Amino acid sequence: MNLRSKLPHTRTTIFTVMSQMAHDYKAINLAQGFPNFPPASELLDAAANAMQRGLNQYAPMAGYLPLRERIAEKIEECYGRRVNAETEITVTPGGTAALFAAMMATVHAGDEVMVIEPCYDSYLPTLELCGAVVKRISLTFPQYEVNWDAVQQSVSAKTRMIVLNTPHNPTGSILRKADMERLAAIVRNTDIIILSDEVYEHITFDGEQHESVLRTPELTERSFVISSFGKTFHVTGWKTGYCVAPAELMREFRKVYQFMNFASFTPAQVAFAEVLAHKAHYQTLPEFYQAKRDYFRKLMADSRFELLPSHGSYFQLARYSALSDMNDSDFAVWLTQTHGVAVIPVSAFYADSTDNHVIRFCFAKTEETLERAADALCKV
Ligand SMILES: Cc1ncc(COP(=O)(O)O)c(C=O)c1O
Repeated sequence: MNLRSKLPHTRTTIFTVMSQMAHDYKAINLAQGFPNFPPASELLDAAANAMQRGLNQYAPMAGYLPLRERIAEKIEECYGRRVNAETEITVTPGGTAALFAAMMATVHAGDEVMVIEPCYDSYLPTLELCGAVVKRISLTFPQYEVNWDAVQQSVSAKTRMIVLNTPHNPTGSILRKADMERLAAIVRNTDIIILSDEVYEHITFDGEQHESVLRTPELTERSFVISSFGKTFHVTGWKTGYCVAPAELMREFRKVYQFMNFASFTPAQVAFAEVLAHKAHYQTLPEFYQAKRDYFRKLMADSRFELLPSHGSYFQLARYSALSDMNDSDFAVWLTQTHGVAVIPVSAFYADSTDNHVIRFCFAKTEETLERAADALCKV
C-alpha cells in the first residue's frame, strides 16, 4: 500500500518506551508521570454510584453542567476570574484532547506558532497536523526560564499562537507575574492566541502561587487554558480534563471537539462534580506534593546526581555529569537496565534532541517507592 504518513517523523512516545522498558526489566518506574498511590475513596465511590444510578449515557457535548459550574466556582476562588459555565468551559477526555482541539480549531496551515522547549510531546505532532510553521524557543539552561526577548523577536505578522506550560513538564519551572506582564506586552494589539497548558495548576511549592493566565484579564480574553483532573485527583487513567476560553474561542473549539469525541466519560464527570465541593482535595495538593519532593531530594542528597530546583509539577530534574558522559537517552536506558530505575531523558522533550545531560524523575510515588529508587540511585 502506498501510505503517506501524516506524521512521518513521529515515533512511539518516550513515555511508552520507558514504561515498557521498566516493565521488561522489572525496574522502578520513575519515568512516566503518574501516581502509584490510590485516589480518594470518595472519588471512587462517587463514580461507582454514578454508574449504579444509571448515569451511563452521553453527557452534554460541553460537559455535565454541574461539573462545569463547580469548575467555574473553583476558577473564581483560585484566580478571581468569573467564567461562564455554559459558554466558556468544555470538559474533555484529558488535557491532551483539549490541547488537540484548541490547536486544530484555530491554527491554519502556514500559521506560525511559538512553542517553548523542552515541551510536552503532543504539541509538535499536533501542530504538524495543523500545517503550522513552528518557531521553537528554548528555555534558558539550567534555570529553565523563558527568554522573552527571544519570544518578542520571533513574533511576526503570521504568528497565530504561543503555547505555554506552567507549572512546567519536564523542568518543574513556573511562570511568575513578571512573565505574564512581559507576555501581555508582547501580544498587545495583535491577534495572537495563547494556549496555556496548566494541567499541574494545583502543584506549586514553597508558597509560590500558580500564575494562571486567568489572573491577567488582558491575557484571559485571548487564551485557551487547559487543566486535567487526572493530575489533580491522582487518576491519570480517567482521562478527564477541561478547557476554559472566552465564548468566541470556545465556539470554534467546540466545532472541532464535537467530532473528535462529542462528550467525555459521564460517571467520571459526575464524580468530579461531587468531590470538587470538597475544596481540600486541591487546596492541600501543594503541601502533599512538596512533602514528596522534599523527601525524594533528602533521600538523594548523598547521591552523585545534581538535583535542579523544582518549583512545581511532580517532576524533579537531575544532571548526571559527575557520573557519566553518555548521552541522556543512553544513560536512561543504562540506568533502567543496570540499576533498575526507569527515568526520562530530557532530550526527548526537544525537537532537535538537545542534550544537556539531564534526566527527569517523577516523584508522584509512595514513600516506599521513593526509598527503593533512591537507594538504587545512591549506589550509582
Ligand atoms: C504538560 C502536560 N500537558 C498535558 C498533559 C496531558 O494530560 P492528560 O493526561 O489529562 O491528557 C500532560 C500529562 O502528562 C502534561 O504533562
